[in-house]
Amino acid sequence: MRDIFSHRKRLAITITYQHHSDRGQGLNMDASQQEPTADQPRDDIFWVHDLGWDGRGVARRSDGRVIFIWGALPGDSVRADVVDDPPKGPLSGELRAVLEPSPQRVPHPCPHYYEGCPASLLGAVRREFSLNWKRDHLVETFRRIGGFEGVLVEDVIPSPRQWRYRERLEFTMQRIGELLKMGYQTRDGLLPIQDCRLGGEELVGPYRQLRRALPMLDEHPHLGEEIPLRLLIRANGRGQAVAVVFVIGKEVPDLDPLVAWLGKADLVGWQIRLSKSVKRRYFGSKLIREEGETTVYQTIVGHELPTEPISFAQANVRASKLLVRLALEHVTPESNLLDLYGGYGAFGLEHALRGGRATVVDSSPSGIEAGRAFASEHNLPVDYVAHDLGKTEGLEVDFSKYDAILLDPPRSGVEQQMLELLDNKGPSRVVYVSCHPAALARDLRRMKHYTTSLIIPVDMFPSTSDLETIAVLDRA
Ligand SMILES: C[S@@+](CC[C@H](N)C(=O)[O-])C[C@H]1O[C@@H](n2cnc3c(N)ncnc32)[C@H](O)[C@@H]1O
Repeated sequence: MRDIFSHRKRLAITITYQHHSDRGQGLNMDASQQEPTADQPRDDIFWVHDLGWDGRGVARRSDGRVIFIWGALPGDSVRADVVDDPPKGPLSGELRAVLEPSPQRVPHPCPHYYEGCPASLLGAVRREFSLNWKRDHLVETFRRIGGFEGVLVEDVIPSPRQWRYRERLEFTMQRIGELLKMGYQTRDGLLPIQDCRLGGEELVGPYRQLRRALPMLDEHPHLGEEIPLRLLIRANGRGQAVAVVFVIGKEVPDLDPLVAWLGKADLVGWQIRLSKSVKRRYFGSKLIREEGETTVYQTIVGHELPTEPISFAQANVRASKLLVRLALEHVTPESNLLDLYGGYGAFGLEHALRGGRATVVDSSPSGIEAGRAFASEHNLPVDYVAHDLGKTEGLEVDFSKYDAILLDPPRSGVEQQMLELLDNKGPSRVVYVSCHPAALARDLRRMKHYTTSLIIPVDMFPSTSDLETIAVLDRA
């Protein structure tokens, strides 16, 4: 007998866990619960038929209304309370019990999953099922949001690893009562995390040391209370870990307790940064203390590119190598490539190392500086332009000079003004890389002068419901 999803501070749930010879360990229906019959519909029991992109299970209530339920998986019969019942639109449900588990369920390797951690919900289903679900859901998103029928969508390319693939993890540091804890935010508040199985091996030891040393900060009650804190722990590309503590506020607090705490872990280096808001911590924070070697190295075709610990890089480095290779297969090798939202130039630099030329545009000064230095050191024909691509005014790039554009915007997609410019002036080939299928489908639909010839999904975020997608477009 084992509890599943006993939401802390909420209901205790009893579900029997049994061994079935035909499908390994599975969940069995709680004998005290019966499925509703046709003449006795129950509004708290649901059969989950799908999963939303945010990882919530999708079901229908007996009146036909759609309900989203955290932690429920396709094929599950669950008992859930309706916690949000707006006059229009979908309902939200709080999972109380998995009555009849989906045949696709497998035991989740992380104990935090059973405490309500939402970080790796798809770790509870067979990997093959999750890859197929991602592809089917992508096709459906393209049909529903993009209005596409019959676009070729390839099978999802699996990540080399399902677990321990993330090069960086970020935790909230917050007080629970008197004690400072580190963990992930859930809808029930902070869930302290012992070890996140998504994080790479380099992160495990230093994170454990920091967690063990956390009580030394308990006697500084302002930390994690009036002063919110975030911890970023990141692999440095050479088998070691770097940490960044973001202190959220206007004034620099007494840093000695944090310095002593960071000193307890085998980190190759650390930074403490001050940021006025949580939202601006990456782009708007100021370095206030640093120790050791904090450089994070990206490897591009065997060459190391040094970057700042807060600069953007794909979280799953092994899968991102596949992503870059697959995307560049659709760009002629000796061509002139415009790499928009290029960061330090992961695509543009690799294209140049294969004999092409590139211009990289991004708004992040640190990414541009790192890429420019690398291009100069290796004598690569890559130019860098710093520009906020939210606006087209002032963009000193002539689209007609390029044979292809590679676009890799943030989750929200490409701003309307920029998309229109691209649609009207873009070259014969556009390769659009996106981590948000719905935003991608919306943007492709708006590009009236292009046809989408191929969609390649890459499982950059295994065990989660997120998906990275490459779309290959040709001027019609
Ligand atoms: C998904 S990342 C891709 C980065 C790069 N292609 C890579 O793979 O490393 C999105 C990039 O868009 C940049 N970005 C976000 N908003 C931007 C904007 N308004 N204008 C220009 N670049 C922006 C970020 O700095 C980040 O480098």
